[in-house]
Amino acid sequence: MTNIDTLTQAPETSRVPTTRSYLMCRPEHFTVSYKINPWMEPANPTDTAKALAQWQVLYDTFVSLGHDVQLIDPIEGLPDMVYSANGGFVIDNIAYGASFTFPERMPEGPAYMDWFREHGFDVRVPENINEGEGDFLLVGDTILAGTGFRSESKSHTEVAELYGREVVTLNLINPSFYHLDTAIAVLDPLTGDANANIAYLPSAFDTKSLLILQDRYPDAIIVSEEDASILGLNSISDGYNVVIAKRAVGFERQLRERGYNPIGVDLSELLLGGGGVKCCTLELRKS
Ligand code: ARG
Repeated sequence: MTNIDTLTQAPETSRVPTTRSYLMCRPEHFTVSYKINPWMEPANPTDTAKALAQWQVLYDTFVSLGHDVQLIDPIEGLPDMVYSANGGFVIDNIAYGASFTFPERMPEGPAYMDWFREHGFDVRVPENINEGEGDFLLVGDTILAGTGFRSESKSHTEVAELYGREVVTLNLINPSFYHLDTAIAVLDPLTGDANANIAYLPSAFDTKSLLILQDRYPDAIIVSEEDASILGLNSISDGYNVVIAKRAVGFERQLRERGYNPIGVDLSELLLGGGGVKCCTLELRKS
């Protein structure tokens, strides 16, 4: 992996990082005690101290890149709370709350909404099941919205009305890629669709959705099954630096070829719960 300050070759396009604000949750109570996705095996042991150490590296990486990182207190008995991407969807200082699919995670919805309220966000209680930024991705001015396993498509309509932005529904078909953020990485989340680009795994989508992606993002990075299978797409970009899974070496090379700066982190312990870099990160867009 290249460090931010050691990239010497001229990138094909000049990529511009922008400072972000993120919400994260320390995995103090992380374990795998139930199974709500194919990655989770409650019979296998987990190591909370290791999860904490790996998570800390991700936190430190964001801070070293100059981003603002906010923290929500973890709650005992909610082992998946570390996956803060599912806690809501925030644009224009409006926080659309999450309403979880499975009872095991349901208490997280109100906990995240309380945090948003206490931190000055305009909170909207959701009417439909949705798992926040796990299934809603802002790409330029467009919101890509996933359904098939978790968020209901009715929540897509709700989000379109709430933010007055175009929402594009995409159908996920592989249970291992159950949230949209496991199948698509947003690389250039700047305003203006002309500047926007993504990376994705074609086989995670039905034919109709795939045609939409091919049509809208002809320059997208197509990642390999191998990289996607360790949740390599579950990454965070600031427009230049892309924090990815360390083992996603093909994706790392593809990013570098396009002038991005991939930064690898190892979240193997959190992968046992079915989450990676992006799952542990919720973007707080104040405007
Ligand atoms: N165990 C969690 C679940 O299945 C993992 C969530 C991963 N989050 C994400 N944004 N993809 O709900």
